[in-house]
Amino acid sequence: MNRTVYLNGAWLAEADAHVSIFDRGFLFADAIYEVTGVVNGKLLEYEGHSARLQRSMGELGLVCPLSPEELLGVHREIVQRNALSEGLIYLQISRGPADRDFAFPANPVPTLVLFTQAKAVLDNPKARTGISVALLPDLRWARCDIKTVQLLYPSMAKMEAARQGADDAWLVEEGFVTEASSASAHIITSDGVLVTRPLSQAILHGITRHSVLDLATTIGVAVEERPFSVEEAKTAAEAFITSATNFVLPVTQIDGQLIGDGQPGPLTLRLRELYIERKIASAI
Ligand code: PDD
Repeated sequence: MNRTVYLNGAWLAEADAHVSIFDRGFLFADAIYEVTGVVNGKLLEYEGHSARLQRSMGELGLVCPLSPEELLGVHREIVQRNALSEGLIYLQISRGPADRDFAFPANPVPTLVLFTQAKAVLDNPKARTGISVALLPDLRWARCDIKTVQLLYPSMAKMEAARQGADDAWLVEEGFVTEASSASAHIITSDGVLVTRPLSQAILHGITRHSVLDLATTIGVAVEERPFSVEEAKTAAEAFITSATNFVLPVTQIDGQLIGDGQPGPLTLRLRELYIERKIASAI
């Protein structure tokens, strides 16, 4: 690939972009990230991603060298420079290079990186079939509300899910589903109620989750924000995940058990369609 990436104020060919071996993102995973979807060359849900980025930085005392307005400009410019019509923009900010020490450096010089991934996010074949998920223990740290680059356990969970023949993993804490390895997890009960775990430090505060809950309420679907058990998930009428990369994606099998008739649920597909339609209309 020959992308143009952004690194600390410079636009570089990806092969020419280098970060120090002393970068705290590399040594300590002392870094946060955001992922924004792009459709028709426009940014989806940018406001939400920008707000969460500021929150993640605040929680870790990271200071971004650019203002939110400047960051928006960089997002727009990276789309143009890569002629990105459809795909994703990844942004990462680390506390920057410093001699190895657990204590934060007194005067950090953050590293700011943005890169693109061209991808057909709309026409996802899995939206037609649904995905299968394995159930795995949630062994992540206790501040999953901060979008840090500590993604080793989610990577391990995806590998274990694949080893078990599943597409992804739903993570479980004390018998209750927290979220998917890199998406929010939701079910729909036989009474048509959308159930999703409430916001806390145990899950990422998904931007797509927030919009989909709003959307569900708008179309008259009852929403309950409460923990749901593995048993409830396996016997749900429908199940789905939400994320910037997948929008609303049906889950048709949990731990080997078919959900409903094993086909993507009608309400899930309706939410996917409406979500995509509305977010494309309001993309910037
Ligand atoms: N993942 N939960 C986790 C653990 C996530 O990593 C993500 C997003 C979400 C969904 O959040 P949002 O709707 O704001 O994308 C929930 C991104 C897409 C990733 O790591 O690639």
